[in-house]
Amino acid sequence: MEPTTGKPSFLRNVLTRLLLFGVFIIVARFAYIITIAGESCNVGDFCFFSLPETLNFVIAGGGAGALAVESNDAVEVYVSKDWVRAVHFYSSVFQDLISDGYLSPESKSLCVETPTGHDVFALKEIGVSDSIGISKKASKPLVKAGLAHRMPFRNNTFDFIFSGEGGLEKSARSADFASEIARTLKPEGFVVFHIKATDTYSFHSFLDLFNNFKVVKWHDIDGFDSSMPSIREIVLRKEFDGIGHEFENFDDDSTGKCSSHGYKQELVKNAEPLIPEEPLKPWITLKRNIKNIKYLPSMVDISYKNKYVYVDVGARSYGSSIGSWFRKQYPKQNKTFHVYAIEADKTFHQEYGLKKGITLLPYAAWVKNETLTFEIHHDPGEHVEVKGRGMGRIQPLQSSSSDGFDGEVEKIQGFDFANWLKNTVSKNDFVVMKMDVEGTEFDLIPRLFETGAICLVDEIFLECHYNRWQRCCPGQRSPKYEKTYDQCLELFTTLRQSGVLVHQWW
Ligand SMILES: *[C@@H]1O[C@H](CO)[C@@H](O)[C@H](O)[C@H]1NC(C)=O
Ligand SMILES: *[C@@H]1O[C@H](CO)[C@@H](O)[C@H](O)[C@H]1NC(C)=O
Ligand SMILES: *[C@@H]1O[C@H](CO)[C@@H](O)[C@H](O)[C@H]1NC(C)=O
Repeated sequence: MEPTTGKPSFLRNVLTRLLLFGVFIIVARFAYIITIAGESCNVGDFCFFSLPETLNFVIAGGGAGALAVESNDAVEVYVSKDWVRAVHFYSSVFQDLISDGYLSPESKSLCVETPTGHDVFALKEIGVSDSIGISKKASKPLVKAGLAHRMPFRNNTFDFIFSGEGGLEKSARSADFASEIARTLKPEGFVVFHIKATDTYSFHSFLDLFNNFKVVKWHDIDGFDSSMPSIREIVLRKEFDGIGHEFENFDDDSTGKCSSHGYKQELVKNAEPLIPEEPLKPWITLKRNIKNIKYLPSMVDISYKNKYVYVDVGARSYGSSIGSWFRKQYPKQNKTFHVYAIEADKTFHQEYGLKKGITLLPYAAWVKNETLTFEIHHDPGEHVEVKGRGMGRIQPLQSSSSDGFDGEVEKIQGFDFANWLKNTVSKNDFVVMKMDVEGTEFDLIPRLFETGAICLVDEIFLECHYNRWQRCCPGQRSPKYEKTYDQCLELFTTLRQSGVLVHQWW
């Protein structure tokens, strides 16, 4: 037995196999080159392998990526079949843009958020030589490292910017992304977006991000892979280098109509109908109605918004609507919402201190900054009590004594809710609101209209308080509220006619 003789022959064996494997790989790659070359030369009116002398292709397997390296002035790009298909697609897109006059071979061009550089390659390939891409991770020489919301370029640098593959809708900082494009594009320069969404709502929220721009063209085209089967292409021109328009979405005629009126009307039309007749058993009818609700994010794409905000006015305990409903059931399209809980009742304040992503405003939403009285009910009534406290109505301090309320009364601080809303969110934010304020809605909603703050809200879940039939005592109306169901219906109708997507909440 000679253990040493077995080893070399084993090694030789392994080496031979490795060598054969290597030869196999080379042959396979060659076959691949032939296939691709044949295809692209037959299909298009140009051949991929007769490119500018500086560019040489080497096929590197079947992956989707591409790797480019610079060597002796020549650029070698390692590509896959998918890569070639993408470049084909972008070449034809850019050639169309050239014939429409939005792009020219002299344009200094930028492609944003392009990890692969397909688009940059296509630009160079059709003769737009001064082009570069940016992406989180560089892929030299086509793509350098840079973030879309903080671009490494000076003001007014580019004649042409391209944002493909739905880059803007994927961005968590769409407003910064848009303002960086506005900053780096020269006046009169063109920016072209490829986006996924095609609904009117998302189109308007997209346009709202670009104040100094004019839409020169938009149309829908077929995509080149399954990630975006259909693409909406939008061409914008930077109009001037000034400051953006300020809060423009409120009409001058002050009838409370937002300028977005038209397209929001469409949404309202698709919403669940209002309940036309006063329900005899409101505790059942209204609760059931929650199942019919058509949530805004289930109808449209909300990707083009900057911040995502949920305002719970009259939040009560964390579990009563934020935890049980908003966190669990409201469709959010994977967006992270910041929550504002507005609740004047001290009983509920402590638990909010422990929650992340929630700001508690321990005051009462009101029409101005003033001290109010707050009723604390102890009767079991029709509402479920939380820790022994019923819902409280609020009143301005001076008028409260005449009311004849025999429960406990507390002083609380009220604040100008409409004003707060205008200071807290902008028209570029997505704002959902739930309002359950024990009758104060009849003060707050008109105030939201008066100030234009109503236009900042995308969707409202409103509990309207009226003298409803009571569960406890058949044939008796609730003595707690004076308004009638018809007055509530009128409030809902007014909101909807103004293009506000409001739902009847329980
Ligand atoms: C570049 O543009 C931004 C915003 O458009 C402006 O705030 C800044 O002052 C400009 N910088 C220079 C150097 O002009
Ligand atoms: C949300 O994210 C999950 C997983 O990351 C994904 O499967 C789903 O399609 C996303 N939904 C939306 C609406 O983007
Ligand atoms: C109400 O108070 C807030 C916060 O202190 C303040 O910013 C706001 O200007 C006040 N509004 C009015 C109308 O006084």
